Parts: sequence; structure tokens; C-alpha cells
Amino acid sequence: MSRGEGEQAVDVATALDRLPKVELHCHVEGTMRPQTVVELADKNGVALPSRDPTVLYRYSSLDTFLEVFWLVQSTLADRGDWARLAYEGIVDGAAHGLVYRETAFTPARHLAGGQNLADIVAGLAEGLEAAERETRVPAVLIASIDRAFGGGAGLEMVERLVELRRAGAAGTDRVVGVGLDSTELGVDPTDFAAAFALAGRAGLRRTSHQGEETPPAFIALGVDALGSERIDHGISIVDDPDLTRRFAREQVPLTVCPNSNVLIANAVPRLEDHPFPRMRAAGLLATLNTDDPALTDLDLGYEYASALSAFGLSWDEMVAIALDGVEAAWLDDDARRAMGARVRSAADDLSAQLEGAR
Ligand code: ADE
Ligand code: ZN
Repeated sequence: MSRGEGEQAVDVATALDRLPKVELHCHVEGTMRPQTVVELADKNGVALPSRDPTVLYRYSSLDTFLEVFWLVQSTLADRGDWARLAYEGIVDGAAHGLVYRETAFTPARHLAGGQNLADIVAGLAEGLEAAERETRVPAVLIASIDRAFGGGAGLEMVERLVELRRAGAAGTDRVVGVGLDSTELGVDPTDFAAAFALAGRAGLRRTSHQGEETPPAFIALGVDALGSERIDHGISIVDDPDLTRRFAREQVPLTVCPNSNVLIANAVPRLEDHPFPRMRAAGLLATLNTDDPALTDLDLGYEYASALSAFGLSWDEMVAIALDGVEAAWLDDDARRAMGARVRSAADDLSAQLEGAR
């Protein structure tokens, strides 16, 4: 394909930034702009140890990261705050080629502190709607259970969610699934089996963080005991060849976040050491995602560009990864086909521009 009239040549990082991309593993709280953290903290009387994000966002492990995550979450006090968060998260993603997101929110601490799920969901949905009107980027919600609060709190959240959906409460049509996140070590995934079973019966999709810090047996439990259709992270799967073969055969999607695994979980010292290319080579449906972009100073364009350079991937392999994101998304068949066609068509145009840059 040759470069069309008036098209500017672009470098590969710019092309990857512009490539339409879906994102399936991104915590809405992890998209909060540093300035918004400060403004909401001031508005809601939350004391921050610092107003400087380089000081505020310091962590050295998943659990110390989760303390920062909680501090950021604690600035969200009312429906308007949740709406602002959801709106800004999509606007910021759209600036880097995001075209669709399935975004998690983890309300356990807010519910324990007296907020109600109806307001949280209504606020988030309001923000997503406003962002969609402006950017044309649709997004749906995954109500995520916080493992640290235990199976009982998880079940209560899903029960309340199911009730709200049955009553047609505002915004609940945007909640398409449930998830499971937060601290992994020392928590038995089967504690959440009842919550996940209820979610499944109610027609909600299911995903769970497993194998970010835990061994492959936890990934298997995520699917076999919880009925998860996708696994978030799942990077320890490469330690179990049988499970890897099974996931490759069944094409169970893994929503992988390589930069997060370096910065947050310290699972690998450098991006170059990340198992992502081995996961792809083994035939796994491993997608690329940012996890907590604002708290790690990342965006989805950078996630793709850094993967290309750290793993020595080609442009065509990056396009295949973007298309696998579409494959793994909880879209209906028509929407999936349309989204896939959009990615392919944009990839062709961008590829012509890349050739011009060579
Ligand atoms: N919540 C936000 N980011 C997370 C991560 N990387 N792992 C587990 N829980 C999280
Ligand atoms: Zn995550």
C-alpha cells in the first residue's frame, strides 16, 4: 500500500498511539489525574501526605501500591466525584487511541464507609456517558470485589448489584460483569465462589486477577472454581506448561499489563524480562492493558510502543495484539465485527504512513 495524498509519515510509536485500541484491564480509580486527587482531597477534607504525585505515588510492591490506591480511592466521596473520575479517565484514554474500555471499579472500602452502590454506579455511568458524547469512546463497567474484604463482603456487593439491576437503577445497564482484585497472597480464591456463582446466574460476565503474584494453580482456580471467562494478569501461567497449553487451546483471554508488572508488582525487574512475548509465542490470547495508568504515569499508546521495543515485536504483531483485545472483549458479535474492521482499516492506513517514514 502506498502513502496517500496529504498523509504525513509517522514513526511507529506515534502509529501505535493512534491505532484504535480497546482496553479490558484498567481500574477507573487508577486513572485519576494527580490534579484531581488533590482537588477532591481538598473538597472532601482528605489529608494527603504530599500534593506532589512523585511523592504521593511511591510504592515498592503490590501491597504498598494498594495503600496508594486506597488513598486515591478515599478522595471519592459523592456521586459527582465518581462521575468526574469516570469522565476524565475516558477523555485521557481517548487521547491515546482508546476506542472502547471495560473498566473496573472496586467499591468495597466506600461501601464499608457508608456510601451506597446505587450512587457509585449512577455517578460512574453519568461520567462515562458524558465522555462518550464528547469522545465517541464507549465504556462499560466491571464491579470488582476487593479480596482484602473477604468473601462475605464480595457476596453482599454482588447481591446488591443484582437487586439494582433488577430494579433498573440508573447506570446499572453499564455494569456488564464482576471482577476480583486487590491483594493476592494469602487469600483463597474459593472464598469468592458464592459471589461469582451469583454473578453468573444473574447473567454478569466474570473476570478475576490471578497470577500477578500467585502461582499458576490460582489461575486455574480463577477459571475452574470461580467461572472466570478471562484472567487479569495471569503472568505466572508460563510456569505451568500444561495450563499454558490448556489456555491456548481454549483461548481463555489474559489481560496482561507488562509495565504495571514491572512498576507495581515488581514481578520482573525490567520490561525486557516480562513473559508477555513467551505468552504470545505459546498461542495464548494475551492482550495489552495499562492497569492503573495515572498512578504509573502510563498510557495505552506507550504500553504498545514499549512492548514493541522491549520485546522486539513487529508492527503486524502489534496489530494482531490489538485485534486480540477486540476478540477478548465482552462485545456482542456485531459490535465485535465492527470494532475489528475499524482496527484493521486504521492499521492499513497507519501502515501506509509508516512506510512513508521508512
Ligand atoms: N487494584 C488496582 N491495581 C491492581 C493490581 N495491579 N493488582 C491487584 N489489584 C489492583
Ligand atoms: Zn488490575
